[in-house]
Amino acid sequence: MEKIIDLIQSSSYTIVFTGAGMSTESGLPDFRSKDRGLWEKFNPDELANVHALEHSFEEFTEFYQFRLGEINKYKPHEGHYILGRWEKQGLIKGIITQNVDGFHHDAGNENVMELHGTFRKFYCNRCKREQKRERYINGEHQCSFCDGSIRPGIVLFGEMLPEDVFYKAEIETGKADLFIVLGSSLTVSPANMFPMIAKEHGAKLIIVNREVTPMDYYADFIVRDKSIREFLVEMDLNL
Ligand code: APR
Ligand code: ZN
Repeated sequence: MEKIIDLIQSSSYTIVFTGAGMSTESGLPDFRSKDRGLWEKFNPDELANVHALEHSFEEFTEFYQFRLGEINKYKPHEGHYILGRWEKQGLIKGIITQNVDGFHHDAGNENVMELHGTFRKFYCNRCKREQKRERYINGEHQCSFCDGSIRPGIVLFGEMLPEDVFYKAEIETGKADLFIVLGSSLTVSPANMFPMIAKEHGAKLIIVNREVTPMDYYADFIVRDKSIREFLVEMDLNL
């Protein structure tokens, strides 16, 4: 751990990359942890895609009402707030996240690149106009302008990642001399390319994840015996 502390202190451009494991300690389930049975009720692989949006709108909406309810129940944990403070202190320059819960914003981070969009926004899939989140929560799922289907502002399987966000994340990753992965299985492409891009540009790579990832081979440090929250608290105390 001392080596990691030194690295964080001596690096001049640290980028953090987060996945669903960042938010499990807030209470939100992740997608692929073993033996958790969290998605017993729904199968995200079947529902989080364009086909379901277009052909099974009712099930699609039921699933996202459920997820929205989950996200609304929880809030950022200490680890999120530590990252918020680190950005203000200049210890990290930004966060690239696959999470759609908006917790990094809530915790005070400003340079947040949300590769998979956000649950904070809803829009009409036909006319693309933004729609009020409250209305979705209250059960209105058709567009007030054109009667199209309202959907969350997240990226579904089968859709492109938002180009501007992806481009910015690529630039930021290229500048990084330290790249820290927190809580991602690094199995979903193209987001999982970022640790490799960082390595190719000469960054040191730290992976903090309970389970093995396909990128572990490229990491300079791997932390598996601490939760993300524990890791961040310990770092924060020693910086
Ligand atoms: N501390 C450390 N590691 C953790 C913790 C924790 N508290 N909680 C979970 N993890 C680890 C798990 O071991 C797992 O390997 O976080 C990882 C989360 O991986 P996934 O569930 O696959 O989440 P993620 O990598 O973000 O998934 C990518 O897939 O369906 C999608 O769009 C969705 O953005 C998501 C994408
Ligand atoms: Zn519309």
